[in-house]
Parts: sequence; structure tokens; C-alpha cells
Amino acid sequence: MAVVDPTKNARGAAVSGAGAGARPVVLLLHGPNLNLLGDRQPEVYGTETLDDHVRTATAAAEAAELELEHLQSNAEADLVEAIHGARGRCAAIIVNPGALTHYAWSLHDALAAFDGVTVELHLSNPNAREPWRHTSVVAPVATGSISGFGGHGYALAVDAVRRLLKR
Ligand code: DQA
Repeated sequence: MAVVDPTKNARGAAVSGAGAGARPVVLLLHGPNLNLLGDRQPEVYGTETLDDHVRTATAAAEAAELELEHLQSNAEADLVEAIHGARGRCAAIIVNPGALTHYAWSLHDALAAFDGVTVELHLSNPNAREPWRHTSVVAPVATGSISGFGGHGYALAVDAVRRLLKR
């Protein structure tokens, strides 16, 4: 997937709010059940809450002079809409789609229509878990995937975005 100029949309037109001095916007998306982090299977996902992870990502984005927006939803449609809304506006999407990773072709198609950097992020390593988690329908349309590093993955994901946008 091509790396975008954050001041231009897919057709090369200037993006509003992305003029000189504006920070590239990174959209952080979380899918179903990730609002339960901290309580949900801590032996798999750790004890940090979603707010903790968003704080980590926000701090990393601040340090990288990126603007972070965040949405968590248990509804596939909300995530599709958010990806549509990122087109021509956001330089990157970091997405942990939760279980939607494994079957939500609507997310695959929405991300395929997004021109910026896309990082697929998982707290656990799905490939080391049940066989049904070994398929990701998001991976083929992601710039890259980060999984298995727990909460540290957020800093890694923001750093990957920073480097790709500078390239
Ligand atoms: C997850 C892995 C998925 O398989 C699972 O359904 C989740 C969380 C992760 O972050 O490790 O909800 O995306």
C-alpha cells in the first residue's frame, strides 16, 4: 500500500486541516470486546485497560508530532464508517479489530479503499492460539502487522507510522 503525503488526498488534492504545520492524523480503532480489557482474560490480554493503551498511543503520537484519534466499537458498521471517514483526512490507521480480524471482509474492503498507512495490531499473538485465529482478513490490506507484544505494541505501531510517514 502506498505511503501518502498527509497533506493530499488520494487524487492529490489538498486535505482540509492538513496545511502547513498541521499534524498528520492517526486513527486508532478497536473492535468488539476490547472495551473489556483489564477484566477480560487477563492471562491472555494483560491487566491494562483500553484507556491505558490509548494513553500509551497518545503519548507516543505526541512525541512523534502526530495527532491521535480513537474509536472503540462493538459494531462492525461503526468501524467501517470510521475507516470511510478517515479517507483523505487521516495519514494512518492503527487497528485492532478484535475477533472481526478473522472474518470481517467489510473491514478488509474498507481498508483497501484507504490510501494511508495501515497497521494491524494485536495484544496477543493470534498465530500461537486457536486455529480459527490464524486467518486475518485484514493482514492482506495492512502495511504491516504487530502482534504478541501486549501493550508495548501501541508504541511500536505509532513508531512504525512515524517512520513510514517520514520516508
Ligand atoms: C485480539 C486477538 C483476537 O483473536 C481476539 O478476538 C481479540 C483480541 C488481540 O488483540 O490479541 O479480541 O485482536
